[in-house]
Amino acid sequence: MAKMWSGRFSEGSSTLLEEFNASIMYDRKLYVEDIEGSVAHATMLAEQGILTSDEMTLIHNGLAQVKKEIESGEFEWKISDEDLHMAIEARLTAIIGDAGKKLHTGRSRNDQVAVDFRRFVLKSNTQITDTIKTLIEVVVKIASKHTETLLPGMTHLQHAQPINFAFHMLAYAAMFKRDIERFESSKKRNNISPLGCAALAGTPHNINRDRTAELLGFDSASVNCLDTVSDRDFALEILFNISTMMMHISRLSEELVMWSSYEFKFVELSDMYSTGSSIMPQKKNPDVPELLRGKTGRVNGNLVSLLTVMKGLPLAYNKDTQEDKEGVFDSVETALLSVEILRETLDTMTVYETNMHKACKVGHLSATDLADYLVEKANIPFREAHHITGAAVAKCETLGVDLSDVAFEELAKIDDRIKEDIIPYLSIENSMNARTSKGGTATVRVMEQVVYFENYLKEL
Ligand code: ARG
Repeated sequence: MAKMWSGRFSEGSSTLLEEFNASIMYDRKLYVEDIEGSVAHATMLAEQGILTSDEMTLIHNGLAQVKKEIESGEFEWKISDEDLHMAIEARLTAIIGDAGKKLHTGRSRNDQVAVDFRRFVLKSNTQITDTIKTLIEVVVKIASKHTETLLPGMTHLQHAQPINFAFHMLAYAAMFKRDIERFESSKKRNNISPLGCAALAGTPHNINRDRTAELLGFDSASVNCLDTVSDRDFALEILFNISTMMMHISRLSEELVMWSSYEFKFVELSDMYSTGSSIMPQKKNPDVPELLRGKTGRVNGNLVSLLTVMKGLPLAYNKDTQEDKEGVFDSVETALLSVEILRETLDTMTVYETNMHKACKVGHLSATDLADYLVEKANIPFREAHHITGAAVAKCETLGVDLSDVAFEELAKIDDRIKEDIIPYLSIENSMNARTSKGGTATVRVMEQVVYFENYLKEL
């Protein structure tokens, strides 16, 4: 069959060209967006007197039938149709006859693909924020149970200061909240309709772009057609937003992998979300968080890939742009699945509070408290207090005891400005609860943070 664009051609396409040039194998995923876009376009054309209302009805009914055929699996996707836009138009014309040939008045595949893809991205933004919300719910639920569960807070992966497990989990709630905000702001910025931009320059037909924008649920029609058919920054934004979210997921995953090792044993992942080894019968492996970490590499690749495709393109549409879709489809699918499985993994995980507490008793977590005590009670400059505390820690190391358990007499030997009232300062609980500054780890502050995120979720 002759191509829609073959008027000026005297020879047919090579088979290899057809395969190389086609996007129909993957852009068919956009059939709903494509059909809805065509329905809106036909409605507007009829309102403007460009189509008769009979032609519009034929087109609407024909498109409904095409949709049915696609959904029942009857529709024949042929590589020779090149892309979904031409496949659907060809089938429509086969069903309804000449009226089908009028549908493309005042538009081009360049604005058509921009509409379809943009709407897919907008819809995906919403789907992703909806699932992140459920992830934050689980994170906050875990946090609400652990506002007093002591855990070594770390810097450089070295024991630093005692915190509680809720505080740690809520750090991720804060990251995921910003992820949601990032998707939402992209959605707001990119909610503009490309339809009617035509090939690049607009059209002489008396179309109404505001009307199709309204029919398709966009906030407005785009301002500059040359930009609209050409740029893919809306797709780059979702790829970046996914990469950033996956980077957060990957950091938490890394912690889950560590925490479920024998060295930590802070948590145990449920059997439902763990795997075994084909040779070592004793193994229980954290494949889920490992894969989440790995898939972060994959979505980063998709981001860099589209950035690279776009960077050298002159205005306006170029066929290179067809390479925009698969990476976005892949990243969106990966993001949705990743958030969902992370949520279930967290929701079913066992927290070993005793092991977390035990870990707090090594590494002299309350050393900063001793220094702060010397500053506060003995008016010693912090630098000097830091030095005295260092000597106390060295002493504890030789005694083989943690600073939180050392006898007062040993400390007094180091500096006589250390008095007996130091003892409560050195306890891990007190150390954690002393950090009452805004956003700090003290249980009172963390309980406020739980409420903050609960309220955020309620208003979302
Ligand atoms: N399949 C194309 C894409 O995905 C649709 C637009 C084609 N436009 C064109 N003038 N060749 O980008």
